[in-house]
Amino acid sequence: MRRPLVTGNWKMHGSRSTIRALMTALCHGVKDRGAADILVLPPAIYIPDVIRLADGTRIAVGAQNVGDQDQGAYTGEIAADMLADFGCSHALVGHSERRLLYGETDALVAARFAAAQRHGLTPIFCVGETLEQRDAGETEAVVGAQLDVVAAKVGALALERAVVAYEPVWAIGTGRAASPEQAQAVHAFIRAHLATHGAGATRMRLLYGGSVKADMAGELFAMPDIDGALVGGASLKANEFLNIIARAD
Ligand code: PGA
Repeated sequence: MRRPLVTGNWKMHGSRSTIRALMTALCHGVKDRGAADILVLPPAIYIPDVIRLADGTRIAVGAQNVGDQDQGAYTGEIAADMLADFGCSHALVGHSERRLLYGETDALVAARFAAAQRHGLTPIFCVGETLEQRDAGETEAVVGAQLDVVAAKVGALALERAVVAYEPVWAIGTGRAASPEQAQAVHAFIRAHLATHGAGATRMRLLYGGSVKADMAGELFAMPDIDGALVGGASLKANEFLNIIARAD
């Protein structure tokens, strides 16, 4: 049985005061116990504040990206062991905004993935196709290739210890989520594809991301291969995020 994981990706939003208000509402709103794991990914500079605010609750904290190197002259990067030092448990790698807006390649994503694991962080590894690729019938080829690069670098056993997030680029921030059936079809493909690499894919958690809202979360989570969500915009609204968590709890 896979435990659901509901993750809030706050992207580059918030201030100390809005983040304090959001965390206060979330900490107040989540039950002490539930079926789902809950994770928030603040902008890096707010991680220490959020870790403090989440203390004693079931909300875990992670980072939106992680350095591919352990330490050294890498201006602007944050190393995995620095994140672990502050109490982060997870790091997102390969988000499509990093890939498309900042030119991160599959090879860099694979290096970030490996660095996260070297320091005890669980990578949440994002994959997904653009609208053009979907329309051209290339979804499985694109997603499969994204998985293959990381599998080749880290191996099946390491892959098995990660979370994979399927985030179709056309669904992110557009209000046009994949239907539960569309998402399930790609999740089933991802699980089967991971198994061909020798990963114990039935144990792995696969999240869907892209315009997730509370009103469709129940249907998504009912799908056999969808184990939770990576939520962007809706995770900035405490009530909406709590309602999504309630569908997984
Ligand atoms: P969205 O973002 O929920 O705002 O579409 C999801 C994500 O990019 O992780």
